[in-house]
This record gives sequence, structure tokens and C-alpha cells, in this order.
Amino acid sequence: DWTTSTFIDEAISTVRSQVGDKKVLLALSGGVDSSTLAFLLKRAIGDQLTCMFIDQGFMRKGEPEFLMEFFDQKFKINVQYINARERFISKLQGISDPEDKRKVIGREFIRVFEEESERLGPFDYLAQGTLYPDVIESSGTNLDPKTGERIAVKIKSHHNVGGLPKDLQFKLVEPLRMLFKDEVRKVGRALGLPEEIVGRHPFPGPGLAIRILGEVTDEKLNCLRDADLIVREEINRAGLYHEIWQAFAVLLPVCSVGVMGDQRTYAWPIVVRCVSSEDGMTADWSRLPDSLLQIISNRVVNEVKGVNRVVLDITSKPPGTIEWE
Ligand code: XMP
Repeated sequence: DWTTSTFIDEAISTVRSQVGDKKVLLALSGGVDSSTLAFLLKRAIGDQLTCMFIDQGFMRKGEPEFLMEFFDQKFKINVQYINARERFISKLQGISDPEDKRKVIGREFIRVFEEESERLGPFDYLAQGTLYPDVIESSGTNLDPKTGERIAVKIKSHHNVGGLPKDLQFKLVEPLRMLFKDEVRKVGRALGLPEEIVGRHPFPGPGLAIRILGEVTDEKLNCLRDADLIVREEINRAGLYHEIWQAFAVLLPVCSVGVMGDQRTYAWPIVVRCVSSEDGMTADWSRLPDSLLQIISNRVVNEVKGVNRVVLDITSKPPGTIEWE
């Protein structure tokens, strides 16, 4: 529509005059905001844009491959894939407190980001998918005393991430900063992003690491990835994906007894967590059809090694939170 295309034209010319012929770095997560930003910047400044996709090892099944194929190969947006899986999982060894896990992941993210931007750079600007609600919220933002431009104090796509080091301060490019989420989606669609990305459920920065309670291991990650895929596949097949705010699996690190054929099993349970919400601040658990729950339960127990039980989370927010950690 008129406002969307006007916004896009104006944003493109503003970015062009801000950036000139300088280089811009964007941390791409594959979420709606950073994806829309990548498409917008590609139009505005073409190959002056470099995206960095840091694979922490906590993405869902097939996601890193999809992201690279989609942005880098199909749309020729320069995306540097950083495989940091080993680094993150080893940093999390022996750590089971939820806040500690988030802190460790946030800190490691900064470290990887710092090293890799030095290796790939230098860059003059950092692009961030800051939206209007974030602008209102963040009071203590730094302004460059000379130019008055905002400079980076945190990386938005991971809101648990602390400040960037003093000597790694970029000027910010934030063309989405006057938009609300639904407007970003319109812009994304107008720029040619598919529904697959624009209509996505929210996914937390620390990813599957906060959906495995307690210590994260490769074995648990593989298990959760398989279960999560089944939940999403079946929600999709039932045509319910877009009616739901988030639908995912959680792995609990306790064992219960079961029976499989004539064998006793002693294995982990998977929680199905599915909620409706307007903004994530409050949420209600989704009343999924029995037939759908039955398929999910059968498939998870039969197809996911290491799981012998499926339970349903029927807690609203508040008092529960959407995520379990
Ligand atoms: P909770 O669990 O607090 O989650 O009810 C509310 C919404 O926020 C998402 N979430 C996060 N998103 N980084 C993010 O980018 C995070 O660390 C994070 N933690 C929770 C959650 O998925 C839900 O949509």
C-alpha cells in the first residue's frame, strides 16, 4: 500500500545519505526484524552490506541451512556463516541456572561478534533492527558527541546481551526505528520476504538452550530438535500455525519409567508448550484438538530416541512465562 512503499523509498534514501560509500555490518538471526532489515539494506546499499550469522548451535532443525540458502544463495545477500557451536556448548558445560545460562550465552555472543567483525571488517556502521517500542524503552542510549548519531550499546536481537566493548563502538543504522512490529511485517512482505519468514513465531535469542532445563548437552539438543520439528510439523499440518503465537517443545532433565514393546524404558519427557497471545506479555495456553495432541504424542514417543513421555503445559502467563527458563 501507499504508506508502506513511501516508507521504503524514504528509508532507502535516508540510509544512502547516512552511510555514503561506507561498510555496514548486520547480525542476522533470521527473525522478522533482522530479515526485513537485510532486505531493505540490500536494496539501499547493495554489496556495502555484510551480514553475520552466528550459529550458536541452538537453532531448530534445518534452520542454519535454510537461512544460508535463502539469504546468501537465493537473494545474493552476503551472509558470513560463523560456526560457533563448539564454543557455546563448551562454555555451557556444568551450568544449569537459567540466568547464568543466558549470561554465558550473551557474553560469548559478544566475544564471537567482536572477533569476527574484526576479521571481516573494518566496518563503519552496525545495522540494528530496533523498533519503535525499543526506542521508547531504551533511555540510556549513547549519542556520538560529534555527529549526534546513536552508537551501539547493545545488540537488539539478543536482548539479554550486555554492552559492546568501548573500543568496538559502531555508528548505528536503524531504519526500522519508527515502526511497530505489524508495520515491519508489511515492509518485509513488500520487500519480497516470504510468509515463511514474515509470519514466523517468535524465537528467543538463546534458542533451544533455554528450552532444555538445566545443563545443555549435544544429546539433549538433538533430542529436543527432533521433538520440536514434530510439534511444528503437526501444528502446520493441522492449519493452526498462524492462529498460534508460539508452539514448541521443551525437554525436562528428569527420567520416568515407560514400556516400549516388551522393554522397560527410563527416559526424558517432552513438554508441548503452545500459547495464544497478542504481544507476549500475557498469554493463554492453546486448546489444541485431541486428535492433534494424539498425533504429536505418538510421533514424539516413537520417533525421538531418549523420550518416552509427552506432557502438555496448561499454564497461562501470568503466572507462568511462555518459555520455561
Ligand atoms: P517469556 O518466557 O518471558 O517470553 O514469557 C516472552 C516472549 O519473549 C521471548 N523471549 C525472548 N526473546 N531473547 C529473545 O529475543 C530472549 O532471551 C527471550 N526470552 C524470551 C519468548 O519466546 C516469548 O515470545
